[in-house]
This record gives sequence, structure tokens and C-alpha cells, in this order.
Amino acid sequence: MTACGLDFGTSNSAIGVMRGDVPTLAPVEGSATVIPSAVFFEHGSNGRVMFGSEAIAAYIGQHDGRLMRALKSILSTSLIDEKTALGNRKVPLTEVVEIFVRHLKEKAEAFAETELTAVVHGRPVHFVDGDAAADAKAQAVLERIAHKVGFRDLVFVYEPIAAAYHYERTVRAEETVLIADIGGGTSDFTVIRVGPQRSLQADRTADILANGGARIGGTDFDALFNLDAVMPILGLGTQLIEKNLPMPRNLYSELAAWPTINFTYTFRNERLVLELIEGAREPEKVARLLKVIRERLGHRIAITVEDAKIALSEAEKTILPLDFIETALEATGTRAGFDHAIAEKTERLRKVAAACIAEAGLTPSDIDTVFFTGGSGRVPAVRKAILRAAPDARATEGSDFLSVALGLTREAQKRFG
Ligand SMILES: Nc1ncnc2c1ncn2[C@@H]1O[C@H](COP(=O)(O)OP(=O)(O)OP(=O)(O)O)[C@@H](O)[C@H]1O
Ligand SMILES: [Mg+2]
Repeated sequence: MTACGLDFGTSNSAIGVMRGDVPTLAPVEGSATVIPSAVFFEHGSNGRVMFGSEAIAAYIGQHDGRLMRALKSILSTSLIDEKTALGNRKVPLTEVVEIFVRHLKEKAEAFAETELTAVVHGRPVHFVDGDAAADAKAQAVLERIAHKVGFRDLVFVYEPIAAAYHYERTVRAEETVLIADIGGGTSDFTVIRVGPQRSLQADRTADILANGGARIGGTDFDALFNLDAVMPILGLGTQLIEKNLPMPRNLYSELAAWPTINFTYTFRNERLVLELIEGAREPEKVARLLKVIRERLGHRIAITVEDAKIALSEAEKTILPLDFIETALEATGTRAGFDHAIAEKTERLRKVAAACIAEAGLTPSDIDTVFFTGGSGRVPAVRKAILRAAPDARATEGSDFLSVALGLTREAQKRFG
């Protein structure tokens, strides 16, 4: 039996196998060991299927087709059973996930030069907040897909625990650590005792003191920032002439959120927006919304917003070029505006981290280290909020996009040999 560790992420994915004693990630995109969780279906009967950066580039290059991203976010919802039109076929979204996972498995098999039949599969602590049934459903969907692509043996491990196993290899002495894996779709926490001696133990149950998590991640920050910085330029917040009613917010919210962008491209919405333009106080803004829906520019906006968000982790201010909507159109984003837009989410993260520490039976000062991993752990406001839950801890970080997959791979060797 040959085993692998699989981190199917909301934004990025990786898969690894052991080479001797070293967990090694398979090249999944050229020589890169991380691939954006994206699939592009070219329209037409001979339409190609593209993955990762190539998928995103095809969409930006305006190939005729459909881009799918953030599919992990809808595993726990009824949308996962919906069918979406891909070329002249209607395909359930579960099948899109399956196509992507199969692609990863094939890349890893080419690298390992053997068939992979067992997998340690990462999962967030909670796919959804406070809904055990939806959590179970999401895991069941992933399990079904894993079997379908040919994994006969499968174990799920919480993503932050996997990250902890990776982090543990870098510590020289025992410590109590809060793992904060802040990803694209979820934020996951584990309080765990790690150390060189402990890492040798077969059973770590006693070291894992608590797990926690929330359905908050970078894709939510993108949506909130989008609604704050870009959608007003498309008419959000402006009024209708009649009774000074505000523009309906729903459509803007759907268009700003990665998993629902494709659902906004309907004739019904085009008709609705045409009517809204008729009655709008600022019709030129709402006309841009119509263009975005007609020309399927929603992902272009989301990508621009994400790039700006990432820039704001370093800079105080950045420009969002929107010239694909209208010549010279742009928006301005500031760190302060972004922090404000996500403030409720960062406060929730502080609370979830604090609750996880309490559940471990510890006080905030018992935490020696906070290990940040996951791309959204780079957001300064997020780090600040989580460190408030463990004010005396040392902050450290590493392998943002790789730690979970490497830890899962190490665990695959432990579980399957
Ligand atoms: N420098 C940065 N500053 C802010 N956000 C960033 C930065 N780099 C990446 N991100 C964000 O991190 C997120 C992706 O992180 P990551 O790859 O850890 O998520 P994931 O593992 O795919 O998601 P999940 O674990 O939630 O399923 C994206 O939302 C991305 O925009
Ligand atoms: Mg992740």
C-alpha cells in the first residue's frame, strides 16, 4: 500500500508522499508543489479542462468557458448538489471537486511512480459553524470523492493538527503551542504540547488539548473588502428614485463572494439590473453592474480585490485597477478601510482562539507560542487579534502554504506505514 497526505484547500492544494524519512510534496504545477484550487472548463464539445494557475489565466484571457474556485466552501451546503452548465453538459459541483482531486492524485502518482491507494485527508475542524450535521455531510462528500478517485483507505485529520506535526520538527524543547491555521475558507486552531521527545510517541491524543475553528477565511475578507471598496462603484449603496429605496444588496453580495459568482450570470439578473438602471439615481454606476454580469467579469473583480488585499498586508494603501470594466476606472483600498471591513471577523477569530485555549484547560499565559500558518495568517489585523488571546506568547510562522500537507504526509506514514 502506498499512502499520501492530501491538503485540499479552499484556495490552494498540495499532496505529498514520503521519500525515505522525508515528507515530500509532489510537483503539481510545473515544479511548484502548491496549486490554486481552480478548474476552468472551456466551452464547446471539445472544450479542455484546465487546472490551477492555467485555469485562472484562461479565464483572465477571456477564453470562452467557466472558472470554478472555492469549491470547498460549498461542500457543506446544498449548492454542492447543484448542477452547473459546463459547455453543453450540466455537471454537479461534486464532480468538479472529483475532477480536481483526481488531477492531484495523478500528479502525486507520477511523482511517486506508483499507485496511491491510501490517504490521510485534511479537513477543517468545522466546515460550518455550529452545525454538526453539515460538518458530517461535508466530510462524507469528501470521503465519497476520495473513494471514487481510487483511494481505498482513508483517514481524516484536522488541518491544524497536521500543521502542528510539521511545526514540531522545528522545536528544540517542549512547549505549549496554539496553532492558528488561517486559510482561504476556514480558520482552525489546535492547542497542543509539542517537543522532540513527544514527537516520537505513536499516540498523541494526550498532547492534543483542544481544537476549534470558524468558517472565516481569506475568501470572506475578499468578499467584505469587495463590498466595501468596489461594489459601490457598481451602484451598491446608491438609491432608486422611487421612495429613495436602496439598491437591493443580495446580487452584490453574491457577486462579491467567490463561491457564488457564477450563479449571478443569469438572464433573470440581466433583466433585473436593466430595470434597476431605469429607476436608479446613479444609472451610470448600475450600468457597470450590468456589464459585469453580461461579460462575466465577477472573477476578474475578485482577483483584483484579492491582489489588493495581499498588497495591504505590507502597504497602507493600494490601487485596484478596474479598467476591464471601463477605461481608467479604479478603486482605492487602504489598510484602515480593510481592517474596518473585516473587524467583526477578526474579533470572532480572537474569541474562537480564546475559547480553544480555555477548552484546553489553560489560561492565556500558558501558551508559549502561537504558530501562524495559512495565507491569511499574514493579515496584520488577524495576527494582532489572535495574539490578544495569548498576549504573552511568542509569535512564529512558517510554510504558510505547505505545513498542513507536509504534516498530513508525515501522518500518512504513521498510519499506513
Ligand atoms: N500576503 C498575504 N496577505 C493576506 N492574505 C494572503 C496573503 N497571501 C495569501 N493570502 C490569502 O490566503 C488565502 C489562502 O490561504 P491558504 O492557501 O492557506 O488557504 P487554503 O488552505 O486553500 O484554505 P482552507 O485551509 O481554509 O481550506 C487566500 O484567501 C489568499 O488571498
Ligand atoms: Mg488550508
